[in-house]
Amino acid sequence: MFKRLPGDEARNLVSTTPDTAVVFRPAVVKTPAILTIVILTWRMLARLVRTTWRHPIATAIPVALGAAWYFYDWPLAASLLGVVVLVLVSWAFINRASFARLVGYRLLAWWRVVWIYRRHWQPVMIVSGLGRHLRGRDYLPRLGKVTCTSWADLVTVRMLKGQAVKDWSDRLDHLAQGFGAKSCRVALSQAGRLTLTFPRSDPLASPLPALPIPEEPTVGPVEIGRQEDGRPWRLKMHGTHVLVAGATGAGKGSIIWSVIRSLLPATRAGLVELWALDPKLMELSYGRALFGSRYAATPEECADLLDEAVCVMQKRAARFAGLQRSHTPTVDDPFVLVVVDEVAFLTAYQSDRQLRQRISSALATLTTQGRAVGVGVLAALQDPRKEVMNIRNLFPDKIALRLDESEQVDMVLGDGARDRGALADHISPVPELGAGVGYVRLETSPEPVRVRAAYVSDHDIRAMVERRECGQTALIVPAAAEGRTA
Ligand SMILES: Nc1ncnc2c1ncn2[C@@H]1O[C@H](COP(=O)(O)OP(=O)(O)OP(=O)(O)O)[C@@H](O)[C@H]1O
Ligand SMILES: [Mg+2]
Repeated sequence: MFKRLPGDEARNLVSTTPDTAVVFRPAVVKTPAILTIVILTWRMLARLVRTTWRHPIATAIPVALGAAWYFYDWPLAASLLGVVVLVLVSWAFINRASFARLVGYRLLAWWRVVWIYRRHWQPVMIVSGLGRHLRGRDYLPRLGKVTCTSWADLVTVRMLKGQAVKDWSDRLDHLAQGFGAKSCRVALSQAGRLTLTFPRSDPLASPLPALPIPEEPTVGPVEIGRQEDGRPWRLKMHGTHVLVAGATGAGKGSIIWSVIRSLLPATRAGLVELWALDPKLMELSYGRALFGSRYAATPEECADLLDEAVCVMQKRAARFAGLQRSHTPTVDDPFVLVVVDEVAFLTAYQSDRQLRQRISSALATLTTQGRAVGVGVLAALQDPRKEVMNIRNLFPDKIALRLDESEQVDMVLGDGARDRGALADHISPVPELGAGVGYVRLETSPEPVRVRAAYVSDHDIRAMVERRECGQTALIVPAAAEGRTA
């Protein structure tokens, strides 16, 4: 009844080492066939129960159709199948979002597990070196749950014992090519488990128009664009400092202007003050009226304005000392956001050494002591090298837009960011495709998130200036009526 198994042959093998009397005879333990059958049946049953438990509806439908066929013949089963298909199609037309969430993406995930991940898992793991083939046995990382979202497949993996995240992040290209994706990103979900992200499409491929100005004044995380997963990109400005790095034309301006735009109502309400340093004269000058007297362009003016910010910060710190440890924006103590475009013009390319040192030390003072007393810095630059920006580590939150070289990514986002999939050097230089696209790594999370900032056009900036001017007139009237000085 049973075939002769390889073990039967191995039992008769004798291996000897030449010129020695030692003889090795492989120990072959005979397993009773019934034991093998019981184990296999048990595994099959366990898998069946697990599938039914995990996918009750998907299991019930084929079972019900099979039962209808068995008991009432095929016409009834075919009619039932028609009804099921009709219901699903109507649902998809009536409410596409809920159909996609509850049925569409699950079906897609099932299909992609069967057709892509399970089918290619063994060869991809062995060829990429993430699995091992030892003495006729495959030791492979375990493929876990696959979830499909609107733009990507999220694949959970249990690593082999002894593997590190670095082993996977070194092979992102192998994984992407192996499973037919354009790129792959890796994130540690829990000890020993990873989540691999394989994008199916790029939701950030088309530019985003400027976001509406918020109705309510807000200093909290401000919405400035969209994340890759479709959620709004909210950037915390109060209580941190943000560094934006990107090659020329990468879209640094769109981040600066999106932040200013979303803080506009809070500025009008007196909860935020925007101070602008524009050494290149090409970016912030366009909305100069928004900054009032807190605008500087020449290096001397910039140094004076920074010194003034340090002064405000120190006075506040002296007042808060022993009374409060964090800052809440109020009209008396607003959040001061110092926006510096092309900071390298002031810190590295400035020929006057004294001025350069004055500016560097003012920036270092603001970034080391400012956040607890409500003074923040938003700085943009093209070249993130230490020689150009030696205080880049003093910025807790960093954004890498398109960069020219792969080494620059870790300079901006910190060690290992590129290995985890922050491919800022691969962002398209075509403005429609890549301007404003970048990776953000927040102080609180090691995983870089791909984002795109909304594009604030010249027309939008003009409208912001007009709105601010109208708002100021409206604000000044009641203030004057109360006898307050501006
Ligand atoms: N978020 C965006 N979405 C789409 N297009 C954008 C976006 N941001 C910028 N652009 C386009 O890219 C061009 C360059 O943008 P921007 O001036 O902001 O770049 P930059 O990084 O400040 O460059 P530079 O360092 O030369 O000042 C803009 O004129 C605009 O056409
Ligand atoms: Mg610029």
